[in-house]
Amino acid sequence: MYKSKSFVRGMRRMVWSDTQMFVLQKIRLEFKRIKPLHNIRIAACLHVTAETANLMRTLKEGGASVALCASNPLSTQDDVAAALVKKYKIPVFAIHGEDRRTYYKHITAVLDTKPHITMDDGADLVTELHSKRKAQASTILGGTEETTTGVIRLQSMANHGVLKYPIIAVNNALTKHLFDNRYGTGQSTIDGIIRATNVLLAGKTIVIAGYGWCGRGAAMRAKGMGAHIIVTEVDPVKAIEAAMDGFQVMTMARAASLGDIFITLTGDIHIIRRDHFLKMKDNAIVCNSGHFDVELDLPALEKLTRSKQQVREYAVQHMLRNGRRITVLAEGRLINLAAAEGHPPSVMDMSFANQALAAEYIVNHYKSMKKAVYDVPTVIDVRIARMKLKSMGMAIDSLTPEQKKYLSSWQVGT
Ligand code: ADE
Repeated sequence: MYKSKSFVRGMRRMVWSDTQMFVLQKIRLEFKRIKPLHNIRIAACLHVTAETANLMRTLKEGGASVALCASNPLSTQDDVAAALVKKYKIPVFAIHGEDRRTYYKHITAVLDTKPHITMDDGADLVTELHSKRKAQASTILGGTEETTTGVIRLQSMANHGVLKYPIIAVNNALTKHLFDNRYGTGQSTIDGIIRATNVLLAGKTIVIAGYGWCGRGAAMRAKGMGAHIIVTEVDPVKAIEAAMDGFQVMTMARAASLGDIFITLTGDIHIIRRDHFLKMKDNAIVCNSGHFDVELDLPALEKLTRSKQQVREYAVQHMLRNGRRITVLAEGRLINLAAAEGHPPSVMDMSFANQALAAEYIVNHYKSMKKAVYDVPTVIDVRIARMKLKSMGMAIDSLTPEQKKYLSSWQVGT
């Protein structure tokens, strides 16, 4: 049973977080009034944080019954889970540090609530349903997906013709990935590294693997802290962008011997492997901020390791047979959610506004949706952007009739 001290801490976190989530607050008020999710059961597999808790409250205000499990074994904030259960009577199946068996037992528990909508972050929930509980898919109206990795998995299911219901790719909304992936991951990744190690970043060489929106954010913020940045990429266009943003670009094989800190944000497997570990300097630090814990080849590192010790709560130092030390943060899991608190609420505000409005959209449109991955409708994206701007106290211009006419014509040129 959750202790009351934990409940109070969880409540405080939620309340503070909500003060930064203006758009979600507004949607909650509207949901309370019109109950767009009346009688809808939602199974959510998301990082159990204060921000997610505020999304769960919003869905409940909209008339939904919600059950929540974790989308990562290390990201759960137990005090927030306690607050959600006690104050809001929302069932939460998640314990910080749960093992793999428990993680999947919890996914099973939320699927047992017979949802009409799945809300996923990484697609473990949908994958479990499609592999072990196929029959259940016929009772599902649709689902939403929060992150790049999940969208890629779900698109692969759709391409292989195995996806059994429509999915809205929340990640693809501009008001999601341009802000959450870039500024959210940028700040929270640096936050996680600092909390895990307390190392000074100024003057360090930081190797960023992957220059998608997350990698860009991390590179930009690490540079701001005074680090020298090396970017590794497989995409030639992104590599040019990194170079023109002022970063050194090279292969991981070369960067391995130069970096003090390595951060993977690629969404792919074994970005840092045996040969790279062998080249690293003494006392190198490696961590991952991509969705799954597959980016660092930790089994390969284990084989090179003579002994290891826990040096801080989220840092394990490996003593290699070659006499050098490599410190792995947060077991190679998302450093920003394991060692820090994930993205700040003001950016999750837009991501979760997309989630809430995507759920409403599914309820209103599922009959005409195919078994495919859909983008968030532009009207929703623009509405969220306008609400966010307003909350930031900013106004923007509108096109004059003359400007509108000019943009829709072709006659006027040189
Ligand atoms: N993903 C990244 N940061 C998050 C947060 N604060 N809450 C939920 N999911 C997240």
